[in-house]
Amino acid sequence: MSSTPLTHTVLEPKVLYFGTPVSVISSLNPDGTTNIAPISSSWYLGRTVVLGIGTSGQTLPNLARERSCVINLPAAEHQPAVERLAPLTGRSPVPPGKREQYRYEPDKFTAAGLTCAPSDLVTPARVAEFPVHLEATVAAIHEPADDDFAIVEAHVVRVHVATDLVVPGTQYVDTDGWRPLMYVFRHYFELGSRRGRNFRADQ
Ligand SMILES: Cc1cc2nc3c(=O)[nH]c(=O)nc-3n(C[C@H](O)[C@H](O)[C@H](O)COP(=O)(O)O)c2cc1C
Repeated sequence: MSSTPLTHTVLEPKVLYFGTPVSVISSLNPDGTTNIAPISSSWYLGRTVVLGIGTSGQTLPNLARERSCVINLPAAEHQPAVERLAPLTGRSPVPPGKREQYRYEPDKFTAAGLTCAPSDLVTPARVAEFPVHLEATVAAIHEPADDDFAIVEAHVVRVHVATDLVVPGTQYVDTDGWRPLMYVFRHYFELGSRRGRNFRADQ
């Protein structure tokens, strides 16, 4: 894009999904099985992760009850598995507002062709095929006024990174190898090439 000032249009987009990575949240169902749900509303500051979780799904009551989760980060190549999870809910009966587009699925791992791996420090299982798993405890759940979404504040207690994505002998993730699955206005993307580095990057 040029550095010339642009002409702008006032817009009313339906969603403001300008681009965030997809995460798949593992949470523990009341029967001890793990529910997995894709989300795109997440951001990180230090070891804190903030998640936007819908109030009509199964994930929120699971997080409120169990106070832990795993944030699994798929790579771009896992887009088909994420989209297989997309029309599913672990909540039964399916709430009226979701009935037209979603169906109840108690075993989302099998439905999506994914494998459970036990976590080290929390009860929900990890998604073995995905390259990054963040085990986390739920520190707070803030319910915003519109009732549709809750803001969940979680604290990462263990990080698992696929071994071939670790720069050997260091604690760094190989930024050449890491290909996050990005969500932009309900479309999936992968990242393009490196455009530079921050002045504080030390690797
Ligand atoms: C790519 C993608 C991104 C999504 N982002 C969010 C999100 O940020 N927050 C959310 O609550 N739901 C999000 N959803 C919708 C949930 O996955 C959906 O409501 C699902 O039924 C929740 O599962 P559960 O009811 O078992 O918790 C997203 C779905 C997809 C496919």
